[in-house]
Amino acid sequence: MASVTSLTASVHQRLADALSAALPEAGSADPLLRRSDRADFQANGILALAKKAKANPRELATQVVERITKGDLLADVEVSGPGFLNVTVTDKAIVETLAARAADGDRLGVPLNAAAGTTVIDYAQPNVAKEMHVGHLRSAVIGDALRHMLDFTGEKTIGRHHIGDWGTQFGMLIQYLIENPDQLAPAADVDGEQAMSNLNRVYKASRAVFDADEDFKERARKRVVALQSGDKETLDLWQRFVDESKVYFYSVFEKLDMEVRDDEIVGESAYNDMMPETARLLEESGVAVRSEGALVVFFDEIRGKDDQPVPLIVQKADGGFGYAASDLSAIRDRVLDLHASTLLYVVDVRQSLHFKMVFEAARRMGWLSDDVTAHNMGYGTVLGADGKPFKTRAGETVKLEDLLDEAVERATAVVREKAEKVGLSEEEIVENGRYVGIGAVKYADLSTSANRDYKFDLDQMVSLNGDTSVYLQYAYARIKSILRKAGDTRPAAHPELELAPAERALGLHLDAFGELIADATAEYAPHKLAAYLYQLASLYTTFYDQCPVLKAETPAQVENRLFLCDITARTLHKGMALLGIRTPERL
Ligand code: ARG
Repeated sequence: MASVTSLTASVHQRLADALSAALPEAGSADPLLRRSDRADFQANGILALAKKAKANPRELATQVVERITKGDLLADVEVSGPGFLNVTVTDKAIVETLAARAADGDRLGVPLNAAAGTTVIDYAQPNVAKEMHVGHLRSAVIGDALRHMLDFTGEKTIGRHHIGDWGTQFGMLIQYLIENPDQLAPAADVDGEQAMSNLNRVYKASRAVFDADEDFKERARKRVVALQSGDKETLDLWQRFVDESKVYFYSVFEKLDMEVRDDEIVGESAYNDMMPETARLLEESGVAVRSEGALVVFFDEIRGKDDQPVPLIVQKADGGFGYAASDLSAIRDRVLDLHASTLLYVVDVRQSLHFKMVFEAARRMGWLSDDVTAHNMGYGTVLGADGKPFKTRAGETVKLEDLLDEAVERATAVVREKAEKVGLSEEEIVENGRYVGIGAVKYADLSTSANRDYKFDLDQMVSLNGDTSVYLQYAYARIKSILRKAGDTRPAAHPELELAPAERALGLHLDAFGELIADATAEYAPHKLAAYLYQLASLYTTFYDQCPVLKAETPAQVENRLFLCDITARTLHKGMALLGIRTPERL
């Protein structure tokens, strides 16, 4: 494993050295290097430095250029405008750098983050005995992608699926099951769909009794107390609801082509034992105070209607603990026992006030600090194609599995259309349909910045044109087909060759993969990776249109272009895998 210094970094270093030689008092000044349309790069930093040093910017720029040696790395550096530098790198440097990346296997020369730590990531957290909805889809998809990306930078990641497995509704459910045994088949005997339909049936039936029968309501309330006090029979039944729900969760995660580990499903209930202590610590330190019998934390800056402060309720007046107490306990566990340096939450933006208060309370307690930070990647709402919150025509929430099934169905139709030409077997069509359909759903979600709402529009998602995963998957498969057609001619880098403009543009973009990964991961922004990949596919298409590969002029050029094809394919494959999306070899 050998990480590769990118051209951007090498050029940056050269310019920074020349800059500090020309203007020693500026110290290690930043030349502010950007990719540019006019040349390969443009440095814009000299203007501000000259201003500060009361020097003439064009003159300073000229002095910097005089201190730069051209040759292996730099083909041309010239002053432009009021004092910018336009920088062109050599074709040789581009090919050599890419060759070093190609030699680094699946890491493609991307360095590990020297400051990597441990991130506990809270994502894919559905609720027990409830159907998963499109909001849960977002958390799962975004969280899974972020986790792959973080892992790739060398971060240690620990997943926490904080499922909703506790609360007063279990009193009703369990009581109903006691009075109506045999309503829930053992979890081992059902598949995901049956599990959910059983749970739905029990939920509806118990709700009906609960609403109609005051005596039942009272028995359900007592059952909550039994559950909280750890009564064995009650807990066993509660566990059955959890197990049955897990069968369903796993079936959805499998459909999503996503790995979820059992030991990382640590729901609200897992923190029960910690909650009294959490409350005690909060109260003793004075961070939480008693107010009308409840234990609450107040925040000056958080106010609701009539300018009244909105408190975070740690413990209700009846002694019960809720969502905030479990989250505060989870923070203690993740920081003190799992030794997290970062806590990442992928939760609906509508819970951002909750997290703001929880994080602030944890900071006051010293559980969070400058060294241990917490972030909520609050994501927006999923909208229908009509721009309204996603609902069926009858106004009901759409079942997640139905959506996924439909995506796969449509994708399979798309794949089937081309299948004959590619010579795909029925088995391959089915498998590809799944990868394309699920990929389409994931990509549509990941390619919009998470905090924005996004439209769930299947027609658009499986479209072959535009910024879709299908487009990227086809780009990948097309490259693989060229590489197969090349037969015995192997990809090989030829740094001695002159590159066409489309080859340079593609090469420079490929070289920027490592920096992109570092930025997108630091900002928890999978959409930046998606945008990078889309641009990569577009640059490849231009290259392919302008530069014959197998029919290039010389054997060396054929090999070099195959080499560009190969590293493009590998970068696409890796990037898509980081988003949790498969790239079939033949499509
Ligand atoms: N189960 C919750 C819901 O469906 C999300 C849990 C988020 N995570 C957390 N630590 N509170 O809304």
